[in-house]
Amino acid sequence: MSIETSESILIVDFGSQVTQLIARRVREAGVYSEIAPFTQAEAAFARMKPKGIILSGSPASVPADGSPRAPQVLFDSGLPILGICYGQQVMSQQLGGQVEPGDAGEFGRAFLTVTEPCVLFDGLWQVGERHQVWMSHGDKVTEFASGFRIVAVSDGAPFAVIADDTRKYYGTQFHPEVVHTPDGGKLIANFVRHVCGCRGDWTMAEFRKTKIAEIREQVGDARVICGLSGGVDSAVAAVLIHEAIGDQLTCVFVDHGLMRLGEAEQVVGLFRNHYNIPLVHRDASTLFLKGLEGVTDPEAKRKFIGKTFIDVFEEEARQVGGADFLAQGTLYPDVIESVSFTGGPSVTIKSHHNVGGLPERMNMKLVEPLRELFKDEVRELGRELGLPDIFVGRHPFPGPGLAIRIPGEVTRERCDILRKADAIYLDEIRKAGLYDAIWQAFAVLLPVRTVGVMGDFRTYDSVCALRAVTSTDGMTADIYPFDAGFLSRVATRIVNEVKGINRVVYDYTSKPPGTIEWE
Ligand code: XMP
Repeated sequence: MSIETSESILIVDFGSQVTQLIARRVREAGVYSEIAPFTQAEAAFARMKPKGIILSGSPASVPADGSPRAPQVLFDSGLPILGICYGQQVMSQQLGGQVEPGDAGEFGRAFLTVTEPCVLFDGLWQVGERHQVWMSHGDKVTEFASGFRIVAVSDGAPFAVIADDTRKYYGTQFHPEVVHTPDGGKLIANFVRHVCGCRGDWTMAEFRKTKIAEIREQVGDARVICGLSGGVDSAVAAVLIHEAIGDQLTCVFVDHGLMRLGEAEQVVGLFRNHYNIPLVHRDASTLFLKGLEGVTDPEAKRKFIGKTFIDVFEEEARQVGGADFLAQGTLYPDVIESVSFTGGPSVTIKSHHNVGGLPERMNMKLVEPLRELFKDEVRELGRELGLPDIFVGRHPFPGPGLAIRIPGEVTRERCDILRKADAIYLDEIRKAGLYDAIWQAFAVLLPVRTVGVMGDFRTYDSVCALRAVTSTDGMTADIYPFDAGFLSRVATRIVNEVKGINRVVYDYTSKPPGTIEWE
């Protein structure tokens, strides 16, 4: 994994929770970056030939026996280095300074005072000013290595920022990569542009060109199969690969009948008609819905849908025949190897969503052109490739689809009811201009019937729950605070327009303790 024509920055990961954010900030500065666990940093350094190095934070403690160190080759390289938190401490220690456990530490918001000019502060901070930063450290540098000077201090960290301009080594005790350090992104941009001398011209247009060349080289004149899920990642991967190898690519869209209103038609229309990409559309809704009969346990639903999806995909792929490669829309967060301190240099790679195991089973080689990208970068690439905004900006949608939004038994009738309610909800959200402010919004059809009155008639129909959350990664989420007028407008429309629903409720649970989906 590397984009060799680009200038790059190597980020050495010591296991901080926020290392990914460093990579994002560097890329926002227009410079390609990759994260390597400290155990593999030497190999990554040799492969990438970066223009600078950033050492991450860590839950480890520099004075503790066996705590991680940066490979010596990085210091011998003569390249600029920025150490962040643990990275600053480990750099100081390895260069002859001293780090000691602090008695109190600093956690959360802190203020530093700029004491001397520094290239990191260019166009940003002046001597004598105080600025908000985000700290999270127990240990601190008590004696810095020779050659360094202090350029900013805070109450808990006399060495809040240190600089050695000759060797181009810099260290911050705070975390510039998090949003709670408001100027942190610019500070990192100053490092990569002004200290490392990167041009900052890494763009999606360049990525597109490089990737197309790479795909052509990898695939040659072999054939590639790509499974479309209806989501953004597989769609962007498919369009990019098609641009590289044309009709050597065949897309297979397994339609499980659990998509939202009009979604399957949209996928088919886009690929077949707009992009003219060879597409096999298999309507397997009867197979899926038959298999889901009587299944109420959420995990059983997931297992059945995952397995059936693979079976059907495999069947279709064999019919296409002759493909050596399987294309997947795997993203960078799925492949970043996490650093563990408990079981040695163990490496955990998250399995890729709902079709894990497919490549092994089909004995195919993988083409994963999005492996280096974060989700928002994939969206940007999608726009660059001309995918419509309405498609590229879509909320995430789970692989098992509506099946996990219908607690209890899933039937075609209940899917149809839910699809209509969901479409009204999303329509109102779009009309109110709120779609992009929300991470995910959807309706859930509850297995509960309540009494209602419509005209002169008594009704006994299902309850629909509405969910909308804000989030940055889906790991934690907060409810979206709609105003009452909006919610009552949606509720009225759903009850009036959707037969089978006579009551609408709004889910007010954050994650944790709730999950985003109801199953
Ligand atoms: P939860 O419900 O766990 O969801 O808070 C977090 C994110 O993951 C999505 N999700 C899934 N995605 N297969 C998927 O591809 C699944 O089985 C699945 N379950 C949840 C959910 O939509 C949210 O974005």
